[in-house]
Amino acid sequence: MVKRREEKMPMDRNLAMDLVRVTEAAAMAAAPFAGRRKKEAADQAAVDAMRFALSTVPMDGEVVIGEGEKDEAPMLYIGERIGTGSPPLVDIAVDPIDGTTMLSVGRPGSVSVVALADRGSLFTSHLAYMDKIVVGPQARGVIDLNAPVPENLHAIAKAQGRQVRELTVIALDRPRNAAMVEDVEKVGAKLRLITDGDVTAGLLATLVQDRGVDVLMGIGGTPEGVITACAVKCLGGDMQGRLWAKDEKDRDKGHAEGHDLDKVLALDDLCSGENVFVAVTGITDGEVVRGVRYFPGGAHTHSLAMRSVSGTVRWVEARHNFGRLRKLAGMRYEGVV
Ligand code: FBP
Repeated sequence: MVKRREEKMPMDRNLAMDLVRVTEAAAMAAAPFAGRRKKEAADQAAVDAMRFALSTVPMDGEVVIGEGEKDEAPMLYIGERIGTGSPPLVDIAVDPIDGTTMLSVGRPGSVSVVALADRGSLFTSHLAYMDKIVVGPQARGVIDLNAPVPENLHAIAKAQGRQVRELTVIALDRPRNAAMVEDVEKVGAKLRLITDGDVTAGLLATLVQDRGVDVLMGIGGTPEGVITACAVKCLGGDMQGRLWAKDEKDRDKGHAEGHDLDKVLALDDLCSGENVFVAVTGITDGEVVRGVRYFPGGAHTHSLAMRSVSGTVRWVEARHNFGRLRKLAGMRYEGVV
């Protein structure tokens, strides 16, 4: 694994609030593309808005992991420096739209996400996929990605004081997750198979236990995995990951990066930072945050802001005035494209 340089930097300011402005901007830029089947244009709009908003955040930031690797979508590229250039020195993980397909066909659940942590503390790789297991605080310390699925589910159920049959496993509905899904069925737990959006799935497993999701399992995106690890760090749950190579080319790429593809990455391997901030804004309506809602001349947004040091999680509702934003920052948000 490539070990990046550690530079510790105290962060007095709650950057989660600055990050909310970033994900709000990306969500408002992306929302008009809902149901328009223009994935690339939506991605471009969200990336542009996110890049602009990030450039105003008081930090010396480096993008260490982002989207775009697997589908050659427009992206904030790995290594890109962003922010005002002043301390603190931070790593940034971005996903301007998690759920681009859902957005493009007008389905609920797409969000914009950014995570930020001390410089050198976030895992980075160009490999697109990662196997993951994510649980809430009650099951902290009992998961093991090397152990069989039934063993993990029994351990989670025991930690929660419940039966395995009562657990719900959320997972991306993909052929590569078929064996895991079969194991879940065999052991009698409930499945919730989703088409896309495993950042939100990770949040559901960690944050909203009363919404009936107990664990996220299966192979999804690597950037989404690192962002989820940041959220878990803030929320106090647990997570493990392992890079997944879809073919020989991927395997070579992983090895060239210095990664051991068999290594189980603990939460601290994915995010070792002490100062971690995450913001999530809904683009289309979802279970954790509502989507962008328009009114004449503006829009309402709904976001989550988290900070690891305090453990505070805020749901932030905002009302945006398009005319004033245009005058103030030259940002043009429209309800339609
Ligand atoms: P994008 O919006 O960036 O395409 O990601 C959607 C998503 O479902 C992620 O939530 C997930 O981690 C990843 O794609 C899974 O990749 P794939 O769709 O290639 O299986």
